[in-house]
This record gives sequence, structure tokens and C-alpha cells, in this order.
Amino acid sequence: MADGHSKPVFGIIGGSGVYDIDGLTNTRWETVETPWGEPSDQLLFGELEGQPLVFLPRHGRGHPRPPTELNYRANIDAMKRAGVTEILSVSAVGSLKEELPPGTFVVVDQFIDRTFARQKSFFGTGCVAHVSMAHPVCGRVGEACKEALAESGIPHHIGGTYLVMEGPQFSTKAESELYRQWGCDVIGMTNMPEAKLAREAEMCYATVAMVTDYDCWHPDHDHVTVEAVIKVLLENADKARALVRAVAPKLADRAEPCGKGCHTALDNAIITAPDM
Ligand code: ADE
Repeated sequence: MADGHSKPVFGIIGGSGVYDIDGLTNTRWETVETPWGEPSDQLLFGELEGQPLVFLPRHGRGHPRPPTELNYRANIDAMKRAGVTEILSVSAVGSLKEELPPGTFVVVDQFIDRTFARQKSFFGTGCVAHVSMAHPVCGRVGEACKEALAESGIPHHIGGTYLVMEGPQFSTKAESELYRQWGCDVIGMTNMPEAKLAREAEMCYATVAMVTDYDCWHPDHDHVTVEAVIKVLLENADKARALVRAVAPKLADRAEPCGKGCHTALDNAIITAPDM
């Protein structure tokens, strides 16, 4: 291409309930090796309406891997090695706000990371980097999601803070109330360190969080259970597939480099002297 940038390659990380992509053709599952160990599963390569797309089931097919044990570094690195430039993460979450009922899709724009038992960086002793996380999601991918959700008629909300907890247990009521006081909108267990690692890997990353429950704070709703999450997830899965189908061509049309700086995140981030 004239500007030296190749076409974007769209990657989907599917959470609970999102285990395949509707309409994907020329599909093949492939093992991608990384220096960080094994990703959650093989990657599914295919084409969606003529555009290349790569899919990774975050917890593995059949959901054998819990949030804490996911190899987030291997997952992001495998996507990078597969040529992915733009990642959309589709994840089930609980709602911390009355006005975000189950069935709502939230285009998240901020995170609070409360996880503590995960590898969160590709960097370490020998090469130290501090990337900016002030704006943790790619506005371009977020904008494409916004347009796609509006066109698909899916109930949605633009903007919101996603509290990432370690799990695997759900929150206590006191924790849920605390996160509400902090102004958080949704709660889940997986999108950090994904967003941090995608930034270090200079990839665009955005999250669409699918609300399945009211966690445990709502006086008029039962406390979250796996059964309740799965019930709404199954209803949401079709909507998630419709979203992906609608977003893919929007990103493919935008062949110019991301203007949000995702692809240049490391330019001013490395603090270790080059001759070390
Ligand atoms: N995923 C779906 N619902 C959740 C909740 N209430 N807390 C954490 N993760 C979730």
C-alpha cells in the first residue's frame, strides 16, 4: 500500500458463550507456538465477507481454563504472530448499574484492574517498558463497535468502566457495593491483563462487555449464579455473533493506520538504556 501499512487483520477473543464465529469461511484451526507457553487453544483462521479474521476462544473450547490460569501473554502473542492488528474482546460481565440490565452490550472505555495473580507484562528485568494506559481501549475499534451495535439493533451503552476482579469466586456484597461507589459500570474476570498486553504488543484492543446479571448488589434480583449467567449468555451469543459480522467489514474498510497511537505505543515507553 502507498503508506506502507498493510490491511488490518481482525482478531476476536471470545469469552464464555462465544465459541465460534458465524459466517466464517475457509476455516482452519492452527496451533500457534509462543515463547510464553501455550495459548488457551488453537487459533481459528478464516474469512468473514472476504476479510481475514482470527478467533481465539479465551477459555479454550469447552471452557476448561479458569480466568486466573489463562496464559494471557501467550494468547496476545499468538494473535500478534497470527498477524492480528485489531482485537475485539467479547466478554460476559455482571452489571453494577441499574440502567445496564442483563442483555445490554457495553462498549467499555476504562478499566480498574484488581487482579493480582497474573503475568501482566511482556517486559521485565533487562528491558523495562512503561506504556501509557490512560486510554486503555482503541477508539477506532470502539467506534466501529458503536456503529455496528446501532445497526444491529442490539441494546447497548457506549462507555463504561469495567472492574476486573481475580475470581474465580464471584464478589462479596461489600465488594460489589464498593465497586459501585467507585462508579464502575460492569464487573468481570478477564479483560486485564489482556488490554495491557495488547497495548505492549502495539495492537488495537477494545471490549464489548455483555451483561448477564446484576452481580450481588441489587435488592430485587437474585445474586449471580453460573446458571443465571449461562442462561443469559446463550441469549447473548447470537447477538455477539451478529455484532462480529457487522464490525468486521467496518474495520476492514479502514486501511489507514490507527490514529490513536496503539501501533506506536512502545515508541516512548522503554526506559532501559539501549546498550544494557
Ligand atoms: N461474569 C459474568 N457475571 C459476572 C459477575 N457478576 N462477576 C464477575 N464476572 C462475571
